[in-house]
Amino acid sequence: MGTVSKKNLAVLASGSGSNLEALIQAVKCGIINNAQIALVISNKQDAFALIRAQSAGIPAFCIKTDEEIIAKLKEFNTDLVLLAGYLKILSSSFLEAYKSRILNIHPSLLPDFGGMGMYGIKVHEAVIKAGVTESGCTVHLVTEEIDSGPILAQSRVAVLPEDTPKTLAKRVLEQEHLLYSRTVREFIEKNGITN
Ligand code: GRF
Repeated sequence: MGTVSKKNLAVLASGSGSNLEALIQAVKCGIINNAQIALVISNKQDAFALIRAQSAGIPAFCIKTDEEIIAKLKEFNTDLVLLAGYLKILSSSFLEAYKSRILNIHPSLLPDFGGMGMYGIKVHEAVIKAGVTESGCTVHLVTEEIDSGPILAQSRVAVLPEDTPKTLAKRVLEQEHLLYSRTVREFIEKNGITN
């Protein structure tokens, strides 16, 4: 039996790209052994995620419109789209073009603390304000409704009495880095995706 070809991942990021970095390292060390990051796209010219991609020798592009992004994804034979701190809402044509093949990581235990306006430090501020003793992160499929697609995996993190939004964010982000890579590999194993 021939070797199974590695799937092509596209990572979309708008910010620092620490989740992108974790995915890059996971491919490099074999935690993700069934895929490669074919390209990185940001809607922000100054996103550090683009620098991280370039440093790793991964084609990196700043593209603003969904139509142009879709064209680029197809040019690179993308099998799976990973949102990693991508702060734009995807158009329905984008969602249709990659139906059930777009994953996102969110820094809370969805469905709690998700939805419009719940991103970045705001999530952790809301968690602490709510006085809950547990938070975490979620990898889910992306659908029309924000942060509401089928949940693929979650990782739980204790909220400590002395936590600030910043200390909680740091602890959750560490789990995000582990969860995303593991979930991407398992998703590919379970779903024979073809581009
Ligand atoms: C992460 O907290 C992620 O959960 C959320 O946006 C943040 C991205 O951080 N979607 P980074 O750019 O990957 O460091």
